[in-house]
Amino acid sequence: MDITKIKNKFKELYGAEGAVYTSPGRINLIGEHTDYNGGFVLPGAIDKAIYCVIKPNGTAKVRAYAPDENPEKVSLNNEFGLEEADKPKDRWAQYIFGVCREMTKKCAKIPGFDIVISGEVPLGAGMSSSAALESCVGFALNDTFNLGFDRFQLALIGQATEHNYVGVKCGIMDQFASCFGKEGSLIRLDCRSLEYEYFPFDPKGYRLVLINTCVAHMLGGEYNERRESCERVVAAIAVKHPKVRFLRDANLDMLKEVSDKVSAVDYIRAEFVIEEIQRLLDTCELLKEGDYEAAGRKMYETHTGLSLKYTVSCPELDFLNEKAKEYGVAGSRVMGGGFGGCTINLVKEDKYDQFIQQTTEAYEKTFNIKPLVYDVVIKDGARKL
Ligand code: GLA
Repeated sequence: MDITKIKNKFKELYGAEGAVYTSPGRINLIGEHTDYNGGFVLPGAIDKAIYCVIKPNGTAKVRAYAPDENPEKVSLNNEFGLEEADKPKDRWAQYIFGVCREMTKKCAKIPGFDIVISGEVPLGAGMSSSAALESCVGFALNDTFNLGFDRFQLALIGQATEHNYVGVKCGIMDQFASCFGKEGSLIRLDCRSLEYEYFPFDPKGYRLVLINTCVAHMLGGEYNERRESCERVVAAIAVKHPKVRFLRDANLDMLKEVSDKVSAVDYIRAEFVIEEIQRLLDTCELLKEGDYEAAGRKMYETHTGLSLKYTVSCPELDFLNEKAKEYGVAGSRVMGGGFGGCTINLVKEDKYDQFIQQTTEAYEKTFNIKPLVYDVVIKDGARKL
């Protein structure tokens, strides 16, 4: 990211110097659709981030701008107030507005400010560009106006923004990873208690690589529907087991007990989630033992579950997953919310070149879309530059 460029743009637009903040996108090694079920996730912040330049402007309004010369970058040029009725129409401006409103609900006083935003997290790729934006804006406002929120609160503010101003009933994983990321480590996060531990990740002899289908699906209705399925199953189980508040608290026997009380679709979705939570715990043990081949097999199991049970895959993602198997990749699966975006692949060094070359060629031939490849570098979370 050319930070000088956005600093200069800020100066050109608003006639002053601003402070620069950044917050990254994320990967998730395993544990998908488990966060809003109180389960575990294993994300890490990456070297693709959102950047902002910000300065108070002495008014009660926000002026927000994002250059759009590259389609992968945020595009926005908007002015809006900070009262509830001022919600801007532009989706990107809604993220900024939402963060301000959620902070205001927590008694923060936010005066007007100017902001220029730029980003290198691909949109709709399952790498959480929206959480990166929320965390970046949240972190910047917190620091600029001395609001006194800690990183936990900033992550929760980002999540509440998605729920209340964007309409995606997401879990906490993305915002947490963006706020708490640490270079060289994944984060094993318990989404029920928010306890977490850094999990150093340096798979000797292996590489972690993302392949972007370039089929972008913004999360929305279909994502929320899956969450509702899980909630219905929890409600059914809780009739006999009142301590069950999340699928995390349930097991497969409890699920079987309600098989005639929930729909077949809800049942199979819940089954996936219960299995996935256990799969993550097993994978962490395998990673600790350095058994990357066995950990990789768990990733394939996750893909199968996400594709056949949770039904959040698509033909393009399934194709990439099949190719990974064909070229001996240790582990491969759809990453993030699904419906498009990337696969994450754990691949042995000596298999990497052939896998990438053959797979990208075959993908382009089949779908007439050029896929993008990103080597994963695990970096720090939100910070001032
Ligand atoms: C999206 C959501 C997360 C999480 C993943 C699926 O990225 O924002 O909260 O639910 O999907 O694991």
